[in-house]
Amino acid sequence: MEKITRAKRMENIHSDIRGTLFMEAMEMQAQGSEILKLNTGNPAAFGFGLPESIEHALEHHIREGVGYCDFKGMPKARIAICEYERSKGIRGITPEDVFVGNGVSEVISFALLPLLDKGDEVLVPSPSYSLWGNSVYMADGKPVYYICDEKADWYPDIADIRSKITKRTKAIVIINPNNPTGMLYPREILLELIGIAREYGIMIFADEIYDRLVMDGLEHVSVASLAEDIPVVTMNGLSKSHFLCGYRCGWMVMSGPKNLTEDYRQGIVQLTSMRLCANALAQIVIPAALEDMETPFSMVKPGGRIYEQREVAVGELEKIDGLSFVKNNSAFYIFPKLDVKKFHITDDKQFARELLHETNILIVPGSGFDWNCPDHFRIVLLPEAGVLRDAIKCMGKFLDGYRQR
Ligand SMILES: Cc1ncc(COP(=O)(O)O)c(C=O)c1O
Repeated sequence: MEKITRAKRMENIHSDIRGTLFMEAMEMQAQGSEILKLNTGNPAAFGFGLPESIEHALEHHIREGVGYCDFKGMPKARIAICEYERSKGIRGITPEDVFVGNGVSEVISFALLPLLDKGDEVLVPSPSYSLWGNSVYMADGKPVYYICDEKADWYPDIADIRSKITKRTKAIVIINPNNPTGMLYPREILLELIGIAREYGIMIFADEIYDRLVMDGLEHVSVASLAEDIPVVTMNGLSKSHFLCGYRCGWMVMSGPKNLTEDYRQGIVQLTSMRLCANALAQIVIPAALEDMETPFSMVKPGGRIYEQREVAVGELEKIDGLSFVKNNSAFYIFPKLDVKKFHITDDKQFARELLHETNILIVPGSGFDWNCPDHFRIVLLPEAGVLRDAIKCMGKFLDGYRQR
């Protein structure tokens, strides 16, 4: 028998959040080192506990999740999701337009697979959470990365997007707020992006998983609420807002002109029905979670953990010579820039490895977010303020005098 090798489509797949460096960190941990894992946005790992609203919903409805449920999702869950998305201003949708999945991670594939033929292009932000680029590759498509401009608060660079549209462009991905930048886009930027979609006849994928984690009095606007005439698939879930990463609970809702998307929708029906249903236990909590906005909102206002931890982190980062950053206004990530000349950095993975071995702190280098300069890294701002302060101080010490060889 010959060796069994990976399919060609795996060549470009990279998952650096849990990649080689993570494995190395796990190895160090197994040998007794205490590793501070600032690599994943997993609130429960940092003491964000099960919200009471969710616990009650589980207690009262646990028996409802025993059998396979509707392949699109439990009716009660879809009604609640539909109401939530309508409350965000998305018009013309019904619970029939909602598909529930095992996390946004799963619904992304349900959205891409029925759309793309080999070589079709999807505009994906750089930097962005690598699931998006990876999922386009997995669907035999080609991610074409458009720049989000650090000098303009990490907003998408409209000219760059225009220059990258070709006859093969099928869709544009808008992640708002974005990961790893933790930045929210204002209405004007969304309108410009929608204008491009309208002009070139491309559909929009809107990943809005951080929409309830917006700080500084800002308001999240759903792309689909401004784009009634364009097919938009809006994605969201409970991993971040209610800290339920492990429940694997996400959804997508299709809006826009139904007459244009009926065939595509049938593709989604084929895929979702093929896998029977999403985890029913997780769906049981959706109505309660979407009524409980206090859980996310209490975290992002002054005094709330996510807000206060960001304040502490930013205060410490400001003290580090050779680092600059845009203060994040959403989510729990920041994406600082290293002075490449000062530190002689040519390889961000090497930087992250050296940081890990010297300080026991695990971060993800910018290249893990499809950012193609070796000058950035992402910090997860989820640890308690004191831990975060010490960790960033420690990074500062490491960087003091650091020169890559
Ligand atoms: C932008 C973005 N989309 C999707 C996901 C995955 O979410 P889920 O846990 O619902 O699969 C993440 C996780 O970090 C994310 O940052």
